[in-house]
Amino acid sequence: LLTEYNRATEKLFKVIIIGDPGVGKTSFIRRYVQNAFRGDYKATIGVDFALKIVRWSENQTIKLQLWDIAGQERFTWMTRVYYKEAQGCIIMFDLTSRNSFKNAVKWKKDVDSKCFLEDGAPVPCMLLANKCDLQQREVDQWEIETLCREHGFIGWTETSAKDDLMVGDCMRFLIEIMMKYN
Ligand code: GTP
Ligand code: MG
Repeated sequence: LLTEYNRATEKLFKVIIIGDPGVGKTSFIRRYVQNAFRGDYKATIGVDFALKIVRWSENQTIKLQLWDIAGQERFTWMTRVYYKEAQGCIIMFDLTSRNSFKNAVKWKKDVDSKCFLEDGAPVPCMLLANKCDLQQREVDQWEIETLCREHGFIGWTETSAKDDLMVGDCMRFLIEIMMKYN
């Protein structure tokens, strides 16, 4: 009986995080899970995993299995395998890199062509504009707004893994959406 009770109050979600190399995917996850930040860049090889346990309410615990997928092209041939059965997706770009912003659309199309929810609906994707702590921006807010709308993202926000801006907030938003879909 106790096991049944626990099962009913615990949910597991697989979330993938993708985007160009160096945009800050690993840093975002490190901030969210360990509340830490490192200034040096060590490219992810293939994929890394992290688990975040969220106390959602008094009787609801959520386990997030975070798949931190390498942005470097020599690893992306495996993405179909990594995306499998994802229930949520984060697509990240770097506000100081116009190229990474353009490529967010490529990443969105990649997910939508390879991966679906159980009922065939597209996987809910949130767009994150990271490194908002930096001054030298190459992308305007209205451009992000437009891209977000035209390509079917569930929403977007600026984030900073470095200064811990909007990291927890956007994850709460994504969890709320995944709770509705599942
Ligand atoms: P790949 O694993 O190659 O796909 O890259 P990634 O997207 O995981 O990037 P990573 O998190 O390794 O960060 C790349 C670099 O950007 C590192 O030097 C980080 O310190 C830096 N960085 C990440 N997030 C931020 C941020 O919010 N602000 C600033 N200023 N730098 C950041
Ligand atoms: Mg990485």
